Amino acid sequence: MYCDYLFFIKELLPKIFGKKKAFFAFVKTYGCQQNFADSEKICGILKDAGFGFTKDESKADLIVFNTCAIREHAENRFIGNLGNVKRLKNKNKNLVTVVCGCISQKAEIFEKIKNTFPFVNLVLGTDYFGVFPELLYKVLTTKETVYFNQLGNSSICENVPVERVNRIKASVPIMYGCDNFCSYCVVPYVRGRERSRKSEKILIEVENLIKKGYREITLLGQNVNSYGKGLIEKINFTGLLKKIDEIPGKYWVRFMTSHPKDITKELVDFIANSKHISQYIHLPVQSGNNRILKNMNRKYTREQYLEMVNYIKSRIPGVCLSTDIIVGFPGETEQEFLETVDLVKEVKYFLIYNFVFSKREGTVAAKIPDPVLYEEKVKRLNYLIKVQKSITDELFPKFVGTIQNVLVEKKSEDPGIFLARNSGNILVKIVSNKENILGEFVNVKIISCKRTYLVGEVL
Ligand code: 5AD
Ligand code: SF4
Repeated sequence: MYCDYLFFIKELLPKIFGKKKAFFAFVKTYGCQQNFADSEKICGILKDAGFGFTKDESKADLIVFNTCAIREHAENRFIGNLGNVKRLKNKNKNLVTVVCGCISQKAEIFEKIKNTFPFVNLVLGTDYFGVFPELLYKVLTTKETVYFNQLGNSSICENVPVERVNRIKASVPIMYGCDNFCSYCVVPYVRGRERSRKSEKILIEVENLIKKGYREITLLGQNVNSYGKGLIEKINFTGLLKKIDEIPGKYWVRFMTSHPKDITKELVDFIANSKHISQYIHLPVQSGNNRILKNMNRKYTREQYLEMVNYIKSRIPGVCLSTDIIVGFPGETEQEFLETVDLVKEVKYFLIYNFVFSKREGTVAAKIPDPVLYEEKVKRLNYLIKVQKSITDELFPKFVGTIQNVLVEKKSEDPGIFLARNSGNILVKIVSNKENILGEFVNVKIISCKRTYLVGEVL
């Protein structure tokens, strides 16, 4: 049935959009890596249905917004962009607009789209791949607006075509949804309960990617450390990594995101001795204060987090750590914020992603009194950024003079410069006149460093 609809759509396109030879889709993705991975599936489906792709919205026959609901800012950007589509729709009556992703799962946005942007043709929730072709066909044939946002919490739609944008690095989702209900976070409400993919499906996908020459595989999930929960086969995340690590070839594996409450010493020990798992762990701490961590429902303490960080550092010397931090969680005092700063100084992350708390209706944190002014929160954020800068200023020069194995990811706009990353995910700009290093692992000598990257010469 799935393929039938793709075929039907292909047949239909000349009738719907006039007798053009080519039909173009514009796909805009907001938010996290999971959303970018989902968009590659949407593009895979659209390609099989006869669409090409354009980066110019005004040339598109079909526009897809794959939305993000994690913070208010991402929502506002999407609403702004939807306003622009109204203008395009006035010029091109046949233009088809699809809204999918996390926002389309939210009841109030759903209503807003219905009432304010009636030109949207299809609103599709986050569990949609299996029904996307059928619903798109319905929209094209009936011109009716279709709203479909049921959260299917059981099955995972496998074998969806994937149109990958990158030829060197690939993302592979290993699980969907989240069961953690951190008090500030909308994800469990819009992506539903945790579901793991069968390991055999993941292994086949990774194996094929490596055979095709992909050099970096990133395993994706909201909480990769609870991979395997609910599967009939007995497997956990370390077990999955062990199987992947056995696949022969020249590649490395990254994964995100790890939840500090679920990361295990078994996993850390395995990474330390693995052939292919990179020496990079993204371990979101969110706050360094125990009262805030409790109110966030994170289920670990500052002490437990630091103990794990110390274990990681002792088992994987040279490991690079990064984190997420929310500044200005409701009721966070100056003193509590300073405990986060203190933790950042102690851990010495290579990178931190900082966010000012954003109130998400329907979450527990949205009901906690929040007396701290936004301006004060921004001040805290800027202070944290300053502290982090001083940490990278201390960490990066230590690389100068060392030899690093890096994966060359792309050519820079500056001639003779390539952009690469080491196993710890640190950006390395390399000077080389050899074209054939693109997509390869090379050893470089680090000759200098800037604020956010290292500079190396190919050996
Ligand atoms: N406000 C601010 N940041 C948030 N995050 C998740 N929800 C919120 C929110 N309501 C951040 C967390 C998470 C990252 C993906 O986004 O730090 O780890
Ligand atoms: Fe959100 Fe927490 Fe789940 Fe991450 S683990 S997606 S922060 S609820």
